[in-house]
Amino acid sequence: MKKILSILLALTMVLALAACGGSSAPAATQAAAPAATEAAAPAATEAAAPAEDSKIVVGFAQVGHESDWRTANTKNYQDVFSAENGYDLVFVDCDNDNAVQIEAVRTSIQQGVDYIILAPIQSAGWESVLQEAKDAGIPVIVADRQVDADPSMYDAFLGTDTSVEGKLAGDWLAEYLNGAEANILVIEGSVGSSAAIGRTNGFNEVAAEHPEWTILDSQSGDFTQTGGQEVMESFIKSYNGKFNVVVCQNDNEAYGAMDAMDAAGITYGVDGDVIIISYDATHDGLKYTLEGKINCNVECNPIQAAYVEQIIQQMEAGEEFATYTLVEDQAFVAPGIESAYATTMTQEILDGRAY
Ligand code: AHR
Repeated sequence: MKKILSILLALTMVLALAACGGSSAPAATQAAAPAATEAAAPAATEAAAPAEDSKIVVGFAQVGHESDWRTANTKNYQDVFSAENGYDLVFVDCDNDNAVQIEAVRTSIQQGVDYIILAPIQSAGWESVLQEAKDAGIPVIVADRQVDADPSMYDAFLGTDTSVEGKLAGDWLAEYLNGAEANILVIEGSVGSSAAIGRTNGFNEVAAEHPEWTILDSQSGDFTQTGGQEVMESFIKSYNGKFNVVVCQNDNEAYGAMDAMDAAGITYGVDGDVIIISYDATHDGLKYTLEGKINCNVECNPIQAAYVEQIIQQMEAGEEFATYTLVEDQAFVAPGIESAYATTMTQEILDGRAY
């Protein structure tokens, strides 16, 4: 029943897009996106659970469990797409394996789920399976990270703009250094992920404007604490005494990098020799920022499921929905740092950070 409804809705959406000029490019702009705070995120459905057979079946191909951010993101989806809220969430942890993730989406198609949520590990290689979903009439919502495929291949995107996050980190560093020299090491996220590509590009855009900055090296730590530690250990072997900035593309990598620097007797943070920039601004990342160990932490908000649920509910009702929704981020800096780009950390901010 839901499947037939999905096909009819897909046809309706195609007709609606055709009526709007036939373009399948993203119609919505940031203005149409929900406001970028947790508080402003659409409320999850609270209606009483419908009868078992009327549950909306949602296949979710999740990246994996590589970071605290991901754990918070998964929990958020499981809370919002709960049986009590009328959903049957078919969750697959793809363990950072792109081939596994493509197969997970394919399995969802074969199972005839009503909707597919895809948080893509890598941005490339999605055309074939997205075409299969389209042929089956199953709407696909790409969440968190981007795919390279043309937006006409899926129904909606929802997530953060990681190149804006990278640029924010770069702008903050330029402000903080105020013309001083920077010798920078970058611990990137997973190779081929739009989160790593965006943060790298955004930061490099600012770096290109600063001839006094040198990026000494840039290697992937795969968004994990172990990866961050291993990359930092190898950086220390090659560049000890030659670097004064470490950019970690997520909090877990920063924890690993701090462990490696502790072991090598290298000081960091507001009172140390090395400036640390991190991304995610999870609870523990902000705790280290409040303690002055991380100088600047650029947020990537994992609380995204209510936005996706809103899109699905609008599709169910045959209403217009946002095809491109940006969840905005902000940056936080350690106490004692004043910034036009970031909020200075306080205990109150930390206490309010649930993930
Ligand atoms: O795509 C979001 C990124 O993926 C987060 O920064 C990171 O922690 C996660 O693993």
